[in-house]
Amino acid sequence: MNDRPTIIGGLVIALVALTFPIWYSVGAGRPGPPPELELPADESQCVEDAASMRANHMDLLDRWRDAVVREGRRTYRSTNLGEVEMSLTKTCLGCHRNRETFCLRCHEYANVGGEGPAGGVRCWACHLEPEGN
Ligand code: HEC
Ligand code: HEC
Ligand code: HEC
Repeated sequence: MNDRPTIIGGLVIALVALTFPIWYSVGAGRPGPPPELELPADESQCVEDAASMRANHMDLLDRWRDAVVREGRRTYRSTNLGEVEMSLTKTCLGCHRNRETFCLRCHEYANVGGEGPAGGVRCWACHLEPEGN
């Protein structure tokens, strides 16, 4: 009798684990947070809210690139951090210092861009990583 909650709990965990690939792929395109993303230890907020970043960071990066390359603008007014420089390396990777345990880990998990050293997202041939990685 006393074992019942434990057994049911175990069954629920097993069921979730077994069906995880199914319900994850159903939500593909708008994946939730994957496990074990390394977040900056010394920062608590992203430029925009995490949910918005999760869904829209590719568009934000596109807009940043266009602003810098086409319009020569470099300052972005963010929701959470005030004005930041529009720079993939200096700003994004300034906080997310290790792209392997953050960008790449999620891209592999969400199967973005297929195989490749950057999870198929080929930015790093030109955009240098911060020192230390
Ligand atoms: C062939 C080289 C090349 C590749 C590949 C490339 N970029 Fe760029 N990118 C540039 C150059 C050159 C600039 C202009 C840099 C400047 O003026 O400071 C730039 C500027 C940018 C900027 C704004 C300024 C900055 O320093 O971040 C963003 C954001 C950006 N690119 C994002 C990306 C993303 C995301 C990818 C991958 C999907 C990517 N780029 C791939 C060459 C490249
Ligand atoms: C000042 C530090 C900082 C900067 C700059 C920054 N981030 Fe973040 N980012 C964070 C933190 C902290 C979180 C977690 C926030 C939370 O959980 O509320 C986060 C969350 C995210 C997430 C969601 C992760 C998840 O949990 O699913 C993505 C995607 C992301 N950032 C990408 C970027 C990109 C791309 C840039 C540059 C355009 C960037 N970040 C710039 C600190 C930063
Ligand atoms: C929480 C998961 C997650 C994290 C963390 C994450 N990404 Fe992404 N990223 C995605 C998903 C999912 C897509 C594909 C979205 C789509 O196809 O609509 C994507 C797409 C992109 C694209 C467009 C790629 C293409 O081929 O169109 C770029 C560029 C990109 N991410 C850059 C980054 C960078 C740089 C970081 C780290 C600073 C990062 N991402 C972190 C989930 C993530």
